Amino acid sequence: MTHAPVVDVLAGKYAVGETVTVKGWVRTRRDSKAGLSFIALHDGSCFDPVQVIALNTLPNYADIQRLTAGCSLVVTATVKESEGQGQALELDATEVSIVGWVENPDTYPMAAKRHSIEYLREHAHLRPRTNVIGAVTRVRNCLSQAIHRFFHERGYFWVSTPIITASDTEGAGELFRVSTLDMMNIPTTEQGDVDYSQDFFGREAYLTVSGQLNGETYACAMSKIYTFGPTFRAENSNTSRHLAEFWMIEPEVAFADLGDIAQLAEDMLKYVCKAVLEERADDMAFFAQRINKEAISRLEKLISSDFVRMDYTDAIEILENCGKDFEFPVSWGIDLSSEHERYLAEEHVGAPIIMQNYPKDIKAFYMRLNDDNKTVAAMDVLAPGIGEIIGGSQREERLDVFDDRLEEMGLSKEDYGWYRDLRRYGTVPHSGFGLGFERLVAYVTGMQNVRDVIPFPRTPGNASY
Ligand code: 4AD
Repeated sequence: MTHAPVVDVLAGKYAVGETVTVKGWVRTRRDSKAGLSFIALHDGSCFDPVQVIALNTLPNYADIQRLTAGCSLVVTATVKESEGQGQALELDATEVSIVGWVENPDTYPMAAKRHSIEYLREHAHLRPRTNVIGAVTRVRNCLSQAIHRFFHERGYFWVSTPIITASDTEGAGELFRVSTLDMMNIPTTEQGDVDYSQDFFGREAYLTVSGQLNGETYACAMSKIYTFGPTFRAENSNTSRHLAEFWMIEPEVAFADLGDIAQLAEDMLKYVCKAVLEERADDMAFFAQRINKEAISRLEKLISSDFVRMDYTDAIEILENCGKDFEFPVSWGIDLSSEHERYLAEEHVGAPIIMQNYPKDIKAFYMRLNDDNKTVAAMDVLAPGIGEIIGGSQREERLDVFDDRLEEMGLSKEDYGWYRDLRRYGTVPHSGFGLGFERLVAYVTGMQNVRDVIPFPRTPGNASY
């Protein structure tokens, strides 16, 4: 017997009259006085459940009448045209085999009613059974497939950069240490410092905050690469945009400048948003109805309009003169906070902005110094509703300028030996960016908090499951 995913049944892949087997979980059950039960059965393969009709002539009809939300079933049935409104096809059950009951249906945490998003977060192991998290999961998958496709079609190689690393790429000190030292008996040097030479790697090691530096080494040989992997930041930010563990996509391109990489970011975002609209119309209709009524229209707008390029210096002028009372005061040199980014993207422009050429003092050591000696060739993509989703730059490829920068920042050349080698042996201008995957999924779905677009969010104080 064909195991038929619900998505295929509803799409009409099986002829009316054909016998199929569907496997899934009960979302709802209602009984008719005429002696039949209607079971909405979902299997995660699409937004809608399929309606299964079970007649009282089935030998286990008494059991069927006790089915509640969450019970698992294997149903053998005949495909038929639906008599009711809504879906065109439904299933006439010839056999309903009950695989797993739900104990104490009254206390089943995912009983069929609307739950708050915070409640669902507390039941992260059961929440994939809900409409909303099911839809997020399918859109997340669609986005990641589209990202791989986008790069593959353009000749990029996917490079796996290490998760355990010795370098703090962003220099922000938000590192999780990886150590096998016995916390009760930490070895120390003669000076009283922790003796990391006795640790597993013979030195200090951390979870990576970004695959960029390793990515650069491959770009400077393979020309066009990207990474797609988990990254970790021990920043104590309890916001709707920050996670301690998040996924990042980092393309890195040799012989590319800031303009090239900004265009790549725009093309990629348009490509993946188009893929979601085409491939996940069912889920996007749900998000537009329940989460954000502009969920679809703003993606359509993003695809059809040019992103606005804006210089940091111009943005500061706009913010200073807009007459708004910001919590964080505005002046040249500040790091834009989310209220500034949101004002610019939502109110001032109303579309994604590619903000460029930031003051060097607020940016990382590897960014290329502009001719003004004050700014670096950096760019952030700011999306309405969420703020920064991409951060990138042209990298400093000139060894002498790079060394000056290291010195200025109090960093040692020895620590960057292998990175400096790229500048010593056949250096090339190169550029790249990092896309925060959860911020992208939140933007596309309209979900308010990145904790609801990753299966098991890691945030300060939360590492259950
Ligand atoms: O701007 P960031 O720190 O850039 C880098 O890490 C560069 N090395 C990227 C590169 O040029 N290859 O981070 C890039 C993106 C941000 O724009 C944001 O979307 C996301 O990563 N991000 C986070 N997402 C969730 N939680 C956090 N704590 C995040 N920190 C950064």
